[in-house]
Amino acid sequence: MRTKIKSLKYQSAEAQSFIGHEVTLKGWVRTVRNQKTFTFIEINDGSTLSNFQIIATPDIPGYANLINQLSTGVSVAIKGTVVESPGKEQSLEMHATEVTIIGKCDPEVYPLQKKRHTFEFLRTIAHLRPRTNTIGAVTRVRNALAFATHQFFQSKGFLYIHTPVITGSDCEGAGKMFQVTTLDPANPPKTPQGKVDYTQDFFGKPAYLTVSGQLNGEIYACALSDVYTFGPTFRAENSNTSRHLAEFWMIEPEMAFADLNDNMDCAEAYLKYVLRYVLDNCQEDMEFFNKHVSPGVIERLEHVINTPFERASYTYAVRVLEKANKSFEFPVKWGLDLQSEHERFLAEEFFAKPVILTDYPKQIKAFYMRTNEDNKTVAAMDVLVPKVGEIIGGSQREERLSHLEAKLREFNLPAEEYWWYLELRKYGSVPHAGFGAGFERLVQFATGMENIRDVIPFPRYPGKADF
Ligand code: 4AD
Ligand code: MG
Repeated sequence: MRTKIKSLKYQSAEAQSFIGHEVTLKGWVRTVRNQKTFTFIEINDGSTLSNFQIIATPDIPGYANLINQLSTGVSVAIKGTVVESPGKEQSLEMHATEVTIIGKCDPEVYPLQKKRHTFEFLRTIAHLRPRTNTIGAVTRVRNALAFATHQFFQSKGFLYIHTPVITGSDCEGAGKMFQVTTLDPANPPKTPQGKVDYTQDFFGKPAYLTVSGQLNGEIYACALSDVYTFGPTFRAENSNTSRHLAEFWMIEPEMAFADLNDNMDCAEAYLKYVLRYVLDNCQEDMEFFNKHVSPGVIERLEHVINTPFERASYTYAVRVLEKANKSFEFPVKWGLDLQSEHERFLAEEFFAKPVILTDYPKQIKAFYMRTNEDNKTVAAMDVLVPKVGEIIGGSQREERLSHLEAKLREFNLPAEEYWWYLELRKYGSVPHAGFGAGFERLVQFATGMENIRDVIPFPRYPGKADF
């Protein structure tokens, strides 16, 4: 049976119980150091950041031949006895009794050399980059955040809903969707008026990849009270930034009988819970990020976990920005959307902690947000954090039928396409609220990684859908 390095790594009772016993490890060689009378082999199997050290002596079968073939990247199975290590780097190591090479790896051509590679270069070898320390650590933290997400919502009685990836409706409004079609793009069927005849397409009408599971989530919240989705979403916007992807994952809770305050409380508790989970369960990886990737990241997360988030209105934020005496690239004016530079100034400098901005002008937010008494703003909320800016966007939903109908007209949206969304407001409508947390932005925030393209296994962005 194979033992994972993780179970041997820490000063746990489990690790101690292996001392003196024979185990088999399987993984990829990271380093080989030949000494006069023996060889140090370090292998990694992805279960931990740090490698496991193995000592191979000439009495193992085929030693000379083996040593010649061992180099970075080779996959091996190594059987041996676990012993306490005299070195200070690790508490346990292994004396090998049998080393088997499973897959060779020519060191002359293997792209992952021991030197540091840029993240840009690593993106061009996305099939090999998970073998690096940084991408391995990102992967484990991402996994922990996903697990903690389910734990948080499940412990609060939210039901996990699977909303569709292919959809006929545009949740966020206006032209950022990828179309899904089986028609021949070179020769599509045409209507007598010369337009593409979508009645002959797979779904009998135009279909798209979803930008959000929210509208479907609302349907289930308006029956089962508290639900959440956690799935891929797609945006065809041509954004070449370090915080945008064309395919990203979103966590979208939706709560019935809830208002904007309940929504803010949930978002704040959620972020604190998952970040605490990562600090408690990914210590080695977090120390790595703290030391090599984003100095101070652990302290930043502790601060976020231990500080109540600031809550302020959009109107107040605009006043702050106008008085800030900063030369922003983009204009600041009531009625304009905030840009990333504004969001980061608020979270990093002015409030110096996460801030939840509320009550944005209705023109710059989606049609489904609930109109406030002033008839100028909506019950929207954006959670802004240092380094990343907007990490969560949400709102209380417009649950009043006549208001929603008026809003669709105002936004020039076809009421007949939202007939089911309107019916939820006709039959037992309830106040409800929810939000969307960008999962990759969360991974970025937790790890301190600079570019969102390095926190998802296979990033999709303009011009790139490789691997
Ligand atoms: O603010 P957004 O567009 O909100 C919605 O989609 C709502 N329907 C959510 C809801 O209320 N259920 O997106 C939510 C979050 C953003 O705050 C951001 O973190 C992330 O999704 N996000 C992106 N992440 C990566 N790449 C992109 N192109 C993103 N666009 C949004
Ligand atoms: Mg948003």
